[in-house]
Amino acid sequence: MFNLFAPMLTRRALLASSATGATSLMVPFSPAVSAAATIRHISLRAAPGRMRLAPRPFGETAAWHYNGTVPGPEIRLRHGDRLRVAVENALAEATTIHWHGVRVPHAMDGVPHLTQKPIGAGERFVYEFDAIDAGTYWYHPHQRSFEQVGRGLYGPLIIEEPEPLRVDRDVTWMLGDWRLTKAGELREDFGNGHDIHHNGRVGNTVTINGRVPDGFAVRQGERIRLRLINAANARIFSLDFAGHEPIVIALDGQPVTPHAPDKGLVVLGPAMRVDLIIDMTGKGGSRASVTDRFYEGLEYKLVDIVYDATPLRERPPDWPLALPANPLPEPDLKTSSRHQVVFTGGMMGEMVAQDMGESMGPDAPGGMMTDTNSMMSGMMRMMNSGAAWFINGVAADEASHDMRPALTLAKDKTHVFAMTNATAWYHPIHLHGHSFRVISRNGQPTRHREWQDTVLISPREKVEIAFVADNPGDWMFHCHVLEHQAGGMMAVFRVA
Ligand code: C2O
Ligand code: CU
Repeated sequence: MFNLFAPMLTRRALLASSATGATSLMVPFSPAVSAAATIRHISLRAAPGRMRLAPRPFGETAAWHYNGTVPGPEIRLRHGDRLRVAVENALAEATTIHWHGVRVPHAMDGVPHLTQKPIGAGERFVYEFDAIDAGTYWYHPHQRSFEQVGRGLYGPLIIEEPEPLRVDRDVTWMLGDWRLTKAGELREDFGNGHDIHHNGRVGNTVTINGRVPDGFAVRQGERIRLRLINAANARIFSLDFAGHEPIVIALDGQPVTPHAPDKGLVVLGPAMRVDLIIDMTGKGGSRASVTDRFYEGLEYKLVDIVYDATPLRERPPDWPLALPANPLPEPDLKTSSRHQVVFTGGMMGEMVAQDMGESMGPDAPGGMMTDTNSMMSGMMRMMNSGAAWFINGVAADEASHDMRPALTLAKDKTHVFAMTNATAWYHPIHLHGHSFRVISRNGQPTRHREWQDTVLISPREKVEIAFVADNPGDWMFHCHVLEHQAGGMMAVFRVA
């Protein structure tokens, strides 16, 4: 009943509809897109169903999905296209869709009570925006995400470069993580207190594109662009491609100077993406394992790379690796405003109190909050009411729909967030509406000044990011461990 790709509107139909003042053709936030963009029409229907996640002898698992599959359909656009998505909510509860990492106009960002009214059960909503940056993105609900994403609502969104990089194959691996019972059903303990206060809902079954993978078939000499997307609620991956030398060419969709990952390990916190170029240098007929080494003592084989007996070519090709830059506004550090952001909470609370004193103490600049004592008593109050995580001493309460901004950022100016993780846990911190450069870690400049939309911050680490606040509106800023977000680890920034 719902076609994934409905026929494209003709240019004429488009002009006709804008002439009648159709409100869906709103003023685009689109520095680089010409008016003649192709409109791609897509329908997404969120609904419960059953799917094969775990291998036999398990049966199918009850999950939630878009258009009957987990992940939902891969949406592929050309840079400069305009996407129009008709969403139908066939769940028994409200939902929204957020286009993670895509710089969209505020009203299209999919955040309930902040950018739109949630899409009620049985209701519809149309999203529409321009593909202004090429790269690897994804979509997921932003309503009770810890459960809706955890039940399988997510899908890849790929925006192709005007001239795609030359490779033999362009492959997407959307990584999922499930907590299954012995009967192969999802454990129903979504959002439990232990997950909220510790490292989130880390599951026991990892999938690639919704299936526990057996093997990934390749040929000797083949060059693959591998787009990794971490759609897990909480699991962090650190992938070892044993015997292969992956080259990172993009992070969170944005091109980066091609480089080998640190220690050869490809690290992805929740919501992060890494584009790799991998030359298949193994011998015809051989096998190699991809191992996830993130959690010490819990390493496991993600998948086997299985070589066909016949090589494609003897030696890897020497095609170019660098991607063209996206039209991101370059931060100007000389004129920037600096804002201190401190993350606290989680288990091991005493260390936190001491740390807060250090990082928020007498010289805390930015003026967001400097009175440590009153902040601490406020935090105690919030903790007693169930909050677990705090941004500058404040835990957001999703249920209250209180979306007042924590801070207003002057529009078109450069802002630096000096972030301190004063907790004992990892946090992938995501900013909506913008990409930012990661400029330093623990005071050391980063080598690649990489653009990201989600930055993984280690326990006790300090990370500085810089960006031009050019997209007006109220934007979410939160931890993408979805249980941490549910436990208060989010805030709103206003760009005006
Ligand atoms: Cu991927 Cu605020 O989300
Ligand atoms: Cu977190």
